[in-house]
Amino acid sequence: MTVAILLGAPGAGKGTQAPLLAASLDVPVLASGDLLRAEVASGSEIGREVDAIMRSGELVPDGLMARLFLARLDREDAAGGAILDGFPRTRPQAEALDDALNGSGRPVDRALLIEVPIEDLIGRFAGRLICTAGGHVYNEWFKPPRVWGVCDVDGSELVHRADDAEATVRARMEQQLGPLHDVADYYRSRGILTPVDGLRSIEDVAASLLEALGRPASPAQ
Ligand code: AP5
Ligand code: MG
Repeated sequence: MTVAILLGAPGAGKGTQAPLLAASLDVPVLASGDLLRAEVASGSEIGREVDAIMRSGELVPDGLMARLFLARLDREDAAGGAILDGFPRTRPQAEALDDALNGSGRPVDRALLIEVPIEDLIGRFAGRLICTAGGHVYNEWFKPPRVWGVCDVDGSELVHRADDAEATVRARMEQQLGPLHDVADYYRSRGILTPVDGLRSIEDVAASLLEALGRPASPAQ
């Protein structure tokens, strides 16, 4: 059983790497951003509230985020482990996660910090595309889909994210890097943080992350 957390600044590659790890470990990906975007798409009152927060580049309040995410973690498919993308994002969220996992006998195995210098991240947002069905991640330059505008995995339409506008990206960096460092320190002090150089090819980053989880990538990968 593996519960692994992917940490990294906006654009570091969490959403790109999570499905690769999940496929190797045969566990699901639980992605906080995808959960929130589904809530927005549902048109619910919470969705409208969350939409405004995400467009401002701020973090969703801890109580609401923990409620949504921990309910997802509680579902049957995550009983054997999961890759967590985007949660926890603050120290109170990390503590809430520990409480929930300790209660179910599945402690966090490892927190993986994908490190990319901020100046190298900015260029990634303008070209990012995500699919409307499953949140699969592409990039016009670095990871184009096989057919323009169409997801390789599920055939759904590819769109730009509402929070990838330049001003919002700037706000996300300003608001979110401090809490990210707090969470990294939290896991570092417990001896379960592994930093990985994220400024390499997607395949090389995936191989390092798998190695950190004790699952070296096979030569075919
Ligand atoms: P979320 O959706 O989690 O966004 P994020 O953390 O800002 O991270 P991103 O999804 O932007 O980046 P990523 O690291 O997944 O990179 P990706 O793989 O896409 O959260 C959105 C918002 O929801 C937050 O701003 C906040 O408001 C709210 N929220 C979410 N979780 C929350 C929480 N726990 N608490 C409170 N609020 C929360 O890659 C980026 C691009 O780069 C892609 O185009 C990709 O193709 C490309 N790329 C990836 N790897 C490489 C590589 N090695 N080389 C070249 N290009 C690459
Ligand atoms: Mg993401």
